[in-house]
Amino acid sequence: MRMVDLIRKKRTGEEMTAEEIRFLVNGVVSGAIPDYQTAAWAMAVCFTGMTAAETANLTLAMAQSGDVVDLSGIRGVKVDKHSTGGVGDKTTLILAPMVAACGVPVAKMSGRGLGHTGGTIDKLEAIAGFRTELSRDAFFAQVNEIGVSVIGQSGNIAPADKKLYALRDVTGTVDSIPLIASSVMSKKIAAGADAIVLDVKFGSGAFMKTAEDAIELAKAMVAIGTEVGRNTVAAITDMDQPLGRLIGNALEVREAIEILRGEGPDDLRELCLELGGHMLLLGGKAADRADARAKLERALASGEALRKLAQLIAAQGGDPAVAERPELLPQAAARVRVAADADGYVHGIDAEAIGVAAMRLGAGRATKDDAIDYAVGIELVAKRGDRVRRGDPLAVLHVRAEDEAAAAASEQVRSAYALEAEPPARQPLVYAVVSKDGVER
Ligand code: URA
Repeated sequence: MRMVDLIRKKRTGEEMTAEEIRFLVNGVVSGAIPDYQTAAWAMAVCFTGMTAAETANLTLAMAQSGDVVDLSGIRGVKVDKHSTGGVGDKTTLILAPMVAACGVPVAKMSGRGLGHTGGTIDKLEAIAGFRTELSRDAFFAQVNEIGVSVIGQSGNIAPADKKLYALRDVTGTVDSIPLIASSVMSKKIAAGADAIVLDVKFGSGAFMKTAEDAIELAKAMVAIGTEVGRNTVAAITDMDQPLGRLIGNALEVREAIEILRGEGPDDLRELCLELGGHMLLLGGKAADRADARAKLERALASGEALRKLAQLIAAQGGDPAVAERPELLPQAAARVRVAADADGYVHGIDAEAIGVAAMRLGAGRATKDDAIDYAVGIELVAKRGDRVRRGDPLAVLHVRAEDEAAAAASEQVRSAYALEAEPPARQPLVYAVVSKDGVER
């Protein structure tokens, strides 16, 4: 078999066989196929797409290219959750304890942040002493004992995807639905969960700019999950502004605690109830969506979800008092107010620009070896639909010092806000739900 023939085949829109896809994936991992040929193939896929069978075969071949985690040592139906990326998205910090409090075991492997998006592991490490590296045995034992553990992704999960994604990133071939779907699902399948809940974002801060494209991506991922026997449901959600009000590692832990206390911003709470509801249903712990929602609301109101967070923190070496007293988290030395330079209604907040501003303040990494500052970040005072007058606060920056970097970030945050004279149309946070039964809007 020759790679050049496979590139030509894809370029002319023919379907590749399972054997040809395995040849490609093996060659990518071993290095037998040079990057320029892989990149040419990825570009051909961007133009001609892939059939459902090709996408499923690519996913499986990538999932099997490295370690495949066996979670069968953990009792119960393990439900994983994945978001296609967002700014201010601290849902894992809320969902893991909340869903575990309702009886669904959560054995979660998460990543670190890079560029404008944060990572759950960095957020958890804002809690002094919190260990994100556990042995396999300790990880399993903790989930069997308290129902929840969140650790960093270790080992060699889907190395073919790692190589292919890095190459796509620098060859303009990220935004292809079959390539994104197979990339995400290969990692989820290799990570071993029985069922998967996906949060597929659309809007300024997301890969998919429109709801219809997000639905197409979700359909492709649900089809893959169904094909390999992992029940998969996707919520299509809005990312036309960051999620919640706080962006930055310790700040996001604080906001997660607020939600678990029954407080916090409505959009974040609503998204967690939606995603958590699907997790309970797939985990067999609720009869229907209304029952799932009622159980989650009870876990919040009774304090059970917050207690589960404290238990999780204690089990992994952190100070559980943080759950009751978030002021124990690292705090930035200074605050800078960002004021509106005109009157108007907030129509949107460019999530990517806010993510980049937070990263430049030190909350994220420009390269993977950068150190991060847990305390810094951005508090959004005004959100979509709010009316502001010139001089009103749009946001507050939590910074190390009121220096040039803070002034630059302040300018960037101000220009991330789109202000208009008329109020924006109301937009639902959850636009649709995609499952094996179809699309529900
Ligand atoms: N996230 C992934 O893991 N892969 C993609 O291709 C895009 C987003």
